Amino acid sequence: MSTENKYSSIHYNSYLQVDKITSAQNLRSDEMGLHAHDEMLFIITHQVYELWFKQINFELKSVVHDFSARQVNEKNVGIALSRLNRVIEIMKLLIQQIGVMETMTPLDFLDFRNYLFPASGFQSFQFREMEVMLGLKENRRTTYNNKPYHCVFATDKKEALENLEKTSSLFDLIEDWLERTPFLEFGDFNFVAEYQKAVRSMLDKEKEAIMGTDILSDESKQMRLTMLGDTNTYFANIMDEKKHYELVKSGHLTLSYKATLAALFIHLYRDEPILHIPFQLLSKLVEIDDHLTTWRYRHAQMVMRMLGKKVGTGGSSGHEYLATTAANHHIFADFHNVSTLLIPRSELPPLPDLFRRNLGFYFSAVNE
Ligand code: HEM
Repeated sequence: MSTENKYSSIHYNSYLQVDKITSAQNLRSDEMGLHAHDEMLFIITHQVYELWFKQINFELKSVVHDFSARQVNEKNVGIALSRLNRVIEIMKLLIQQIGVMETMTPLDFLDFRNYLFPASGFQSFQFREMEVMLGLKENRRTTYNNKPYHCVFATDKKEALENLEKTSSLFDLIEDWLERTPFLEFGDFNFVAEYQKAVRSMLDKEKEAIMGTDILSDESKQMRLTMLGDTNTYFANIMDEKKHYELVKSGHLTLSYKATLAALFIHLYRDEPILHIPFQLLSKLVEIDDHLTTWRYRHAQMVMRMLGKKVGTGGSSGHEYLATTAANHHIFADFHNVSTLLIPRSELPPLPDLFRRNLGFYFSAVNE
């Protein structure tokens, strides 16, 4: 037997470089000669986060790579799904870990906080990489001191982030992928026209129900009709390509008209076996957005508890800044918003038989 394939044995310690990792906790309080017990927890918690950020970014890079292909290989969509699912499970851990950090009391934190200035999680390069890869654009960021978020990095890291911003994010690639779906028109079937008809019929029925009921006063009826009118306008604005474009331009929406329609189609007809995976994929993006936002809120709450109204070590207003990022830094908000456009299954325009039979896994198709 050939010996070429033989590999040398390896020890747990050297494989995982345990000594390197466990000797990377240098307490500033010890350097200052004023040992603060909880600083060890503070350092290790942050380090564990950075390791998980590394794993998340590793998964995201591979998904971005696969979706960058001009024709997305069907097999890769399934793989992307399982990798995004892994990201979600890690994010759940990241949220839970805040509980470990919170076993440190605000007073314990004060034993070493003064030694940390101006270090801050704001300077986490991997966290920024993750946001950029997911699709958080610079012009949508809330920042502080009127400076871009990457001003806290050394030139090489700043350039790396700027270059990453120039590449397509997961959001961009999923948007492209959705835009390429040839679902929306098939022979005589025009999805938008059929859908709008169904929405009109649904709203007409609601109007009739409001008018016909004895339970509501005239005033309540009027209020409900006004609300129904607003819903109608909402549907009309989103479904109008020009208005939709204006809403994207003004920053009220991020997802393009065509991609929104494709996402809506996938949601409405997700019972078609062939749409199961695309539907799951869109759901994973929404879950990632949910978990990242939950982490932002939990972190902001923890900061409020630790610091009250004190400013952050990185110079922000602390809790106030973080709560604003939690509210504004959604990446896949328009995928959530598709729910607003859903109509009950009973109102769904039936798909023509030929269309259903031809409803293959068309996402690989490229619009020439
Ligand atoms: C006692 C615990 C913590 C406190 C008091 C705290 C405080 C803060 C504050 C005040 C900010 C705003 C920037 C600034 O002015 O410094 C911030 C940002 C940040 N922190 Fe923490 N933090 C804590 C723990 C953590 C942990 C465990 C992580 C995990 C990596 C983390 C990650 C971040 C990140 C990524 C940001 C930037 C958020 C953004 O700009 O959207 N923090 N932190």
